[in-house]
Amino acid sequence: MNELAGKHIVLGLTGGIACYKAAELCRALIKADATVQVVMTAAAEQFITAVTLQALSNRPVYDSQWDSREPNNMPHINLSREADAILIAPCSADFMAKLLHGRADDLLSLMCLARPLEKVPLLIAPAMNREMWSHPATQRNLIQLQADGATVFGVGHGDQACGETGDGRMLEAQELLEEVVAFFQPKILLGQHVLITAGPTYEAIDPVRGITNRSSGKMGFALARAAREAGAEVTLVAGPVSLAEPRGVRRFDVRSALEMAQAVEGAVPAATVFIATAAVADWRPALAADKKMKKDGSGRVPELSFVENPDILAGVAKSPRARSRQLYCVGFAAESHDLLTNAQEKLLRKDVPLLVANIGPETFGRDDNALLLVDAHGTQDLGRDSKINLARKLIAEIASRLKAGEPKNEN
Ligand code: CTP
Repeated sequence: MNELAGKHIVLGLTGGIACYKAAELCRALIKADATVQVVMTAAAEQFITAVTLQALSNRPVYDSQWDSREPNNMPHINLSREADAILIAPCSADFMAKLLHGRADDLLSLMCLARPLEKVPLLIAPAMNREMWSHPATQRNLIQLQADGATVFGVGHGDQACGETGDGRMLEAQELLEEVVAFFQPKILLGQHVLITAGPTYEAIDPVRGITNRSSGKMGFALARAAREAGAEVTLVAGPVSLAEPRGVRRFDVRSALEMAQAVEGAVPAATVFIATAAVADWRPALAADKKMKKDGSGRVPELSFVENPDILAGVAKSPRARSRQLYCVGFAAESHDLLTNAQEKLLRKDVPLLVANIGPETFGRDDNALLLVDAHGTQDLGRDSKINLARKLIAEIASRLKAGEPKNEN
């Protein structure tokens, strides 16, 4: 994916065992089509060599403010002027303290101080022992660095190289890549709270069997990621799927349609946008057996009777919040045929301002999709694309509708 195409990142490494993850991060940034200039402190070079980072970034590494390769002998000026962002990963406790005080006794700190504040954002991925992380001095520095305009990506929790367990691990390379990509996305949903349902539901027949469908949840998870990238608070209610939630998203796992309806009901009062991507089972067995149903050898098959599940989307669309336009509802239609006719019928039946139609069997489990937007005024084809790109397009569309206060589509 070329999610960082055209971006030039200065990747700064400071002293810490997490330097080994910085090598993978460098590679991940390059794979996302960024160009990467690595700058290392002397302490970082105790943990990983400049040779590794040069090979991965395909550029000589800088580590000294006295580097005579630069004609003007000012690498701190030159390197910071061409960057779209400076990312310090790992950022040690010592380096955070240094940044805070505006100290500039090596190339990396000098460059951070010399960068044009409004043009070159500073992104920080802290990495340290849990005691160092929770120390009041570090927490104080963290708050002040944010107040000074830096973006601090938080830390992971788990086993640390020192043998202790707790907060302070640097985020993994893929998590940091996701954060950097998110950082560059326009914050068009700031202040909004997006509630999303995703995946299939599972309706139990007995303790070992049930009825479900082929939805993988990928479209809903991509929308959760895109909404969070756009600056929204995001709540994701997920049926049984094997997907990791995007960073910064609050997730509730549910199994049945009834559980999904309950979780949605609890989240609706805080939401301003509701996107129902889940493939909710229309019916559930009227009675789930509490013991496994057994063959009795007679060849007779069990008779199952069903009851209808609540229509979660239609219910939310009728709520006072949706009626008073405090909650913008978006439905999905997974069809196998007659896409437009079915979608238009569903738009009316669910009484939502916007419906997103797709051909279910052609997209379930895949990383791409083709979406058709349908509203009372017409249709808009978002075309075929990766689910994350389509999710970003749909989020942009929802943001512009929220801004305009009215649905659009003139064709
Ligand atoms: N939906 C819902 N609760 C249900 C059924 C559907 O919230 N019990 C939502 C889906 O999340 C989707 C939209 O309604 O946003 C349409 O779902 P879909 O399965 O395509 O349609 P159905 O309403 O189930 O109608 P049909 O099965 O007749 O196509």
